[in-house]
Order: sequence, then structure tokens, then C-alpha cells
Amino acid sequence: MTTGRVALVTGASRGIGAATASLLAARGMRVVVNYLHSGAAADEVVAGIAAAGGRAMAVRADVREAAAVDGMIEQVRAAWGGIDVLVHNALIPYVIKPFKDMTWEELGGKLDDELRAAFAVTKAVLPAMTVKGWGRIIYLGTGLSRQPREGMIALGTAKAALTQFARYLAQELGPRGITVNVVEPGPVEDTRMADVLDKEHKRRQVAATPLGRLAHPGDVAQAVAFYAGEDNAFMTGTTAAVNGGMAMY
Ligand SMILES: NC(=O)c1ccc[n+]([C@@H]2O[C@H](COP(=O)([O-])OP(=O)(O)OC[C@H]3O[C@@H](n4cnc5c(N)ncnc54)[C@H](OP(=O)(O)O)[C@@H]3O)[C@@H](O)[C@H]2O)c1
Repeated sequence: MTTGRVALVTGASRGIGAATASLLAARGMRVVVNYLHSGAAADEVVAGIAAAGGRAMAVRADVREAAAVDGMIEQVRAAWGGIDVLVHNALIPYVIKPFKDMTWEELGGKLDDELRAAFAVTKAVLPAMTVKGWGRIIYLGTGLSRQPREGMIALGTAKAALTQFARYLAQELGPRGITVNVVEPGPVEDTRMADVLDKEHKRRQVAATPLGRLAHPGDVAQAVAFYAGEDNAFMTGTTAAVNGGMAMY
């Protein structure tokens, strides 16, 4: 149990973020369910947590906008104090197409959005973590940052940059008692991404997975919760693959 810690999960209105918010709340954390457009879905996540005896609040903020992120952190600070655990999970839209058809605005736009959001949310949570000398930061990466798949150059390249960003932070923030790690899922069922895969593609991916299925959001949440845990004090700068053995590294 990690009772009393305050966790912010960005993009928690559905998918992996929603599953993570629920699991962290079940482990005793007070959870901020961040969203951008899906207020009703975020409220449902909060209601589900409350029904299970946990504590959560939904807060709208576009994580690409520093002012909006600062406003969200201030709202949380007034209610619960500083953030102890940051799970940066929000999936900012990107194009799926081959490089030959891609414009710089599409590729560069995704890189800018991805790093701008990671920069903004990380800057915003650091002061309170630094004062406490304790913090857990977990970024959602993807196996596509290591293993290319057709059409996924924008996401894979942006997430590879995010993963290296996380390692630099792990080095700099370790002396402040803050760990920084990345969870890298393979394809996850019940998310928008999974809808992009056609049936045959899914079948081939399952066939190539030793554990014989795609991930569920809850599988990914388990890895995030592991990094977020009170007792997990000596892992930083690492990546955890959650892919059923589809890729091993
Ligand atoms: N699904 C997969 O197969 C898979 C595989 C590998 C890695 N991942 C990674 O796991 C993470 C979650 O993926 P997912 O598939 O669960 O995502 P998802 O189902 O598409 O949900 C995306 C979430 O991000 C929020 N969001 C989008 N833009 C935002 C913004 N600018 N500010 C705040 N929130 C924003 C959405 O909120 P609103 O609806 O309110 O806009 C939603 O809650 C991502 O980082 C993704 O790259 C996913």
C-alpha cells in the first residue's frame, strides 16, 4: 500500500491511463484523472474509483500547454498538496503514414507535441518533489521506439526521444530522491491504437507473442504501479517492456 501519496495520471479518461488511475487508487494513492476532451469519461473513472473506496478527482488540462498544466497543478495543490507520482501517459494524436508521404509539419509537429507535453508536466511537478526529496516519474513509451512498424515513424521517433529524455532526467534527479522510468507496451487491446490494427495484423501479432494474446490496459498499469510504489526505491533510468514476450530486449 502507498497510502496518502498523490498521483497525477495524464490522459486518464480511458485506455491505459484509466486502468492505471484505478490501480494506483486501489493501492491507496489519491489520484488526479487528467483529460482533455472526454470529461464524462473522466468522471466515470473517478466514480469507479470512489465506488471502490478510493479517492480521485478529474482535472481538465491540455498537457501541451504549460499554463494549463500549471493551473492543474495549482488546483491539485490547493486540494491535496504537491504531486508525488507523475504518470505521463496522454497520447497526443499523430499521423500514421510512410515517410514518403509525410510532411515536416506532421513529423515535427508530433515531436514538438510529445516533448513539449513531457517538458511541461515534468517541470510542473518537480518543485514539490524536490522539497519532499521523494518522487516517482513514469513515462509511457512504446516498443515502436525500438522496433519499427510500417507507418509508425512519427510515434516511434517521438517516443524514442521521450525515452532518452527520461534517462537524462533519471541522472539529474536521482540525487533529489526522484526516480524516472519508462514503461514500453506492445499493442494493447481496448485502446484507440488497437482499433487501427486490422484482424489479420492482430492475428499475426498474437501468433508472435509467447504469452498468446495482446496486452490489456491492466497489464500495463501493473508495470506502472510497480515503478510508482513506495518501496521501489532503487530502479531509475530503466525501461520495462509489457508485450507478452513479442520482443525481448
Ligand atoms: N494502446 C497501445 O497499443 C499502446 C502501445 C504502446 C504504447 N502506448 C502508450 O500508452 C499511452 C496511452 O495510450 P492509450 O492507447 O491508452 O491512449 P488512448 O486510449 O488513445 O487515450 C489517450 C488519452 O490521452 C488523453 N489526451 C490526448 N491528448 C491530450 C492532451 N493534449 N492533454 C491531455 N490529455 C490528452 C485523452 O483524453 P481525452 O479523450 O479527454 O482527449 C485520453 O485520455 C500513450 O502514451 C501511448 O503512446 C499505447
